[in-house]
Amino acid sequence: MSFGTERREAPRFETSDLLFEYQDYKLDVLNISKNGVLIYSPDGLPEDLLLLAKSQQFVFWLHDKVKGESMECEGRVIRCILKEDNHSFDKAAIAFNPTQSVQMQKESYGPHVIAVGGSKGGVGKTVTAVNLSLMLALLGKKVTLFDADFGDADCHTMLGVRKLSSDVGDYLHNEVRLADARIDTSYKNLKLISGGVNKIEGIAKQVPHLWKDMKTLPCDYVVVDLDAGIGDHTIEFYNRAATKIIVLTPQFTSLQNAYSFIKASTYSALYQNFKIREKLGDMGDDFTKLFPAMKLLSKDDEISKEFHSVLEQQGFKIIGNMVNSEKELGFVKILTKLVGEHLGIESSILDVLRRCNEVHDSINKITPFIALSPESENARRMKEIVNRLIRQ
Ligand SMILES: Nc1ncnc2c1ncn2[C@@H]1O[C@H](COP(=O)(O)OP(=O)(O)OP(=O)(O)O)[C@@H](O)[C@H]1O
Ligand SMILES: [Mg+2]
Repeated sequence: MSFGTERREAPRFETSDLLFEYQDYKLDVLNISKNGVLIYSPDGLPEDLLLLAKSQQFVFWLHDKVKGESMECEGRVIRCILKEDNHSFDKAAIAFNPTQSVQMQKESYGPHVIAVGGSKGGVGKTVTAVNLSLMLALLGKKVTLFDADFGDADCHTMLGVRKLSSDVGDYLHNEVRLADARIDTSYKNLKLISGGVNKIEGIAKQVPHLWKDMKTLPCDYVVVDLDAGIGDHTIEFYNRAATKIIVLTPQFTSLQNAYSFIKASTYSALYQNFKIREKLGDMGDDFTKLFPAMKLLSKDDEISKEFHSVLEQQGFKIIGNMVNSEKELGFVKILTKLVGEHLGIESSILDVLRRCNEVHDSINKITPFIALSPESENARRMKEIVNRLIRQ
């Protein structure tokens, strides 16, 4: 969410996408402007909030239900508005400064979403997503693994689910709620939404409402297994996720594809920012010109701030897969250098997984490697990775 200054000129989202939260209260947002928000509760405003009226600053949250992001704000109730029956207040205007708040810490609303991508086919995205989900579940987190390889799904196979009683297609065809498209796995705390084995058309257009429903799933984590390539829906999921993971193998083609994917995702995120898009307009939508142009601007310039805020959110973590030597690790490190130097994006290496028979064999044994070989080096490394993600 960029609750940036551009809202003054062109709001980029519907206020119905926003939710106001104070203590245990969650209220609708009727309007948002450069001065603050107008909130609404049809049953009357909570007493605790009324007590704050005109007196002190208080801390509240604004949640963007579509993007699944949240912003902590400090503001003051400046006016309460009586209901038509004149007995209770149902609206309140709260002043706060969105420009200052954009610098505040952002936290996720709903389950924390981890996207596992990497663009190139066969690098181990699904193996990673499946084992990472299971490790989270074994550590007591409630997890939904979302197989976003629509029409070509295979998470269920790796988890030993032989028959799909439901998949995302049932939800997209309005037959079931997303929560009901989940299927149980044989592992405690781990449910799966399969991407199905029949082709699904026009998935990119469905991402916003799919995302909105995903953020209401009753679990702690949603792990999204992305498909290969740089399709619009793949980039959409990746850009919305709070934690972005890139799986990379020590091969030029993997490096090349991962870099192209990150570049395309970054351009897409930048393009969605109104001020940056305006700036780009002068350059004929050529992103390569945008980066040097930004370097010429002062750090206090509003567009420059927006630009750096978007890049900050593009930060990602790498899992090097099939890495068996220092030389191969060196190869993986090249990606952090490339994206840092050329795109100004920070990345870090979470850890590496070894190329080994246990992982290879786990596929045909339709059992995730951490369950099949819990004492193996890769299982230990996966546990480390997941502990790091939980602590972040
Ligand atoms: N660490 C590893 N050691 C040995 N084999 C591995 C390892 N990781 C992955 N593989 C092998 O690579 C194959 C492809 O992995 P996976 O299906 O996870 O790739 P993917 O990136 O999801 O591919 P796609 O883009 O086609 O979905 C697996 O079936 C497995 O045999
Ligand atoms: Mg896959």
